[in-house]
Amino acid sequence: MKRLIFSLLASSITLVSSTLVTDINGFAYKSPLVGKTVNLTDALVTAKGSEGFYIAGAAANDTRVSSGLLVFTTSATVLSKVAVGDIITLTGLVAEFRPSADPDFLTLTELESPTNIVVVSTNNPVTPIVLGRDRSPPTENFSALDVGPDGFLSVPNNQSQIDTVNATLLPESFGMDFWESLNGQLVTVLRPVAINFPNSFGEIWAIGDWPVTGQNSRGGLTIILGPDGIPDGQPETVIIGEPLDGTDNPEVAIGMVLSDITGVVTYQFGFYYILPLTAPAIVSSPSFDIAPTSLVSAPGDLCNITVGSYNVDNMSPQGTHIDDIANHIATVLRSPDIVFIQEVQDNDGPTDDGVVSASLTLSTLIAAIKAAGGQAYESVNIDPVDKADGGQPGGNIRQVYLYQPERLSLVNGTAGTALEAVEVIGTDGSPALSLNPGRIDPTNAAWQDSRKPLVAQWTTLSGDTLFTINLHLTAKDGSTTIQGNARPPVNLGVAQRTSQVGAVAAFASEIFAKDADANIVAAGDWNEFLQARSVFASLTPLLSDLDAVAGISPVESYTYVFDNTAEELDHVFLSPAMAARGAEAEHIHVNNWAPSFAARVSDHDPTVARVRVC
Ligand SMILES: *[C@@H]1O[C@H](CO)[C@@H](O)[C@H](O)[C@H]1NC(C)=O
Ligand SMILES: *[C@@H]1O[C@H](CO)[C@@H](O)[C@H](O)[C@H]1NC(C)=O
Ligand SMILES: *[C@@H]1O[C@H](CO)[C@@H](O)[C@H](O)[C@H]1NC(C)=O
Ligand SMILES: *[C@@H]1O[C@H](CO)[C@@H](O)[C@H](O)[C@H]1NC(C)=O
Ligand SMILES: *[C@@H]1O[C@H](CO)[C@@H](O)[C@H](O)[C@H]1NC(C)=O
Ligand SMILES: *[C@@H]1O[C@H](CO)[C@@H](O)[C@H](O)[C@H]1NC(C)=O
Ligand SMILES: *[C@@H]1O[C@H](CO)[C@@H](O)[C@H](O)[C@H]1NC(C)=O
Repeated sequence: MKRLIFSLLASSITLVSSTLVTDINGFAYKSPLVGKTVNLTDALVTAKGSEGFYIAGAAANDTRVSSGLLVFTTSATVLSKVAVGDIITLTGLVAEFRPSADPDFLTLTELESPTNIVVVSTNNPVTPIVLGRDRSPPTENFSALDVGPDGFLSVPNNQSQIDTVNATLLPESFGMDFWESLNGQLVTVLRPVAINFPNSFGEIWAIGDWPVTGQNSRGGLTIILGPDGIPDGQPETVIIGEPLDGTDNPEVAIGMVLSDITGVVTYQFGFYYILPLTAPAIVSSPSFDIAPTSLVSAPGDLCNITVGSYNVDNMSPQGTHIDDIANHIATVLRSPDIVFIQEVQDNDGPTDDGVVSASLTLSTLIAAIKAAGGQAYESVNIDPVDKADGGQPGGNIRQVYLYQPERLSLVNGTAGTALEAVEVIGTDGSPALSLNPGRIDPTNAAWQDSRKPLVAQWTTLSGDTLFTINLHLTAKDGSTTIQGNARPPVNLGVAQRTSQVGAVAAFASEIFAKDADANIVAAGDWNEFLQARSVFASLTPLLSDLDAVAGISPVESYTYVFDNTAEELDHVFLSPAMAARGAEAEHIHVNNWAPSFAARVSDHDPTVARVRVC
């Protein structure tokens, strides 16, 4: 819509064809006026930054349509012409700017090449929209395009693209539409809560004082199934970017409350942002004391064993990282009877020289656990083929069992090598392993450039048999952002993870074929959320999720924090016989509740469980 107005810019009355800011934004993702040079007469300057200034026009009577806009300029001369509170007229080019070379990032509607800037009046009031009061983000879905039974986690993904569909915004229903409908708008967030550590640019994922779902006891939001039974990836979150005045955001930890911010909504680097006018302050902090697990083995009850699982983030014998891990195992996990460890590197860590043995890494770890007051452990692992299992090049990460020989003994057998497949042998009623320990189907294409599961058979103090599967599935690296163009977002490696879970399920089935009541614990870093149900579809009919057995609330089921959500990548599954006996479990947030990003020892939190084998 264009309108003809009488402008009193000059002493004589000139007829100028004028455009409204709301006309530029429109009610869809893309501007109806892209590529057009327009005159604006109703622009109130609301904020200034190094990349231009923000204006607000008259509000539309339509929450789909933003009345805010970035006027892009890096010219100090142009920037010096305007001040916050000025009403100006100007001419500019409407553009859809893609802020980086990544084609999955959305474009930003903005005005470029501003000219003819005339200040009409100064010191006008600037009134932000107060989020949580004037309007609030939806809490369930990101985009109407995330179709499929698993919502934003559905496969196949990238079935459509925001850019191409250019949908009419539905800000009451979809999180991306909500933030898009505020493009360039000045907003206030009351009482922001940090839901992640700052990223490397000092940017902070946060929620404000508005309704949220999936909130955990620390204040973060956990990926859960929504009331509609569809995965909820928490679209009500937003990232607080670099402050416009050049100040630095504080070094936050998860759960810290910040002072109110006022800033502008924008899109960059694959996410909707609020760029605050100035950095907020930390108003309150949660406690950083971590209670050690309450789940210790009960010496009088031979049927009970304690199980730990911990991704120790590229642990090598070099440096102090290994001592920090050992300290966690001794003092926070309190020396579980058996610990499933992932990401143990070879003896010279990432040095890429053909070394694959982790004997020194493990002897160093075991000594450090003892030195930290923990129990005496022995270890079991199988060296991979050099550089065949992915991860940091030359690090040769693998899974390892630490076990206390007084509590569990490894059943005598022949240890497998990297490429030997373990078979289920034995008789009906007493399955056994052809190799102990062994690796599941290591030459299966599902395990290419990925860690092969480490299987072992144990005899417990009670004389019962326990099978364990320690795994670390292929990672999500290279996935598209949660607020990117591809819908549902590209979840990299999802097909390979699905095949890997299938191989684990097939192996468990072979054990069950000989003993339906077998004790099996399958644990580790699955690199996937259980809400991505299609990935686990082959396994969930066979094994039970420990968190569900132990009755952990879904919002407290997390071991990892990435971008805007707390999420569980590390799962423990129990066989039906074990699940039927009940279990207790605790995710110990010793890393995600750290006082700072730098204070974390690993990117994953460990888990401790107490389970029954008889
Ligand atoms: C913008 O206004 C100027 C006069 O200030 C006029 O010359 C020009 O044609 C107008 N442009 C548009 C696109 O209306
Ligand atoms: C996007 O949709 C709006 C509203 O229907 C339309 O005006 C605009 O031209 C569309 N842009 C593109 C690139 O499809
Ligand atoms: C705004 O829209 C609502 C309904 O959509 C209508 O009732 C109201 O009269 C409109 N107000 C103005 C000022 O146009
Ligand atoms: C998504 O699909 C589109 C259309 O096929 C393609 O151009 C684009 O590269 C894909 N994006 C990703 C991240 O794979
Ligand atoms: C979210 O999307 C799903 C379809 O994927 C739909 O069934 C559900 O009603 C939506 N929830 C809300 C709150 O809009
Ligand atoms: C396992 O082998 C060791 C010797 O390697 C032997 O002492 C022990 O008795 C064996 N245990 C069983 C249960 O066969
Ligand atoms: C043994 O484990 C079960 C299941 O976790 C638990 O209910 C029980 O209290 C434990 N017994 C002892 C003596 O710790």
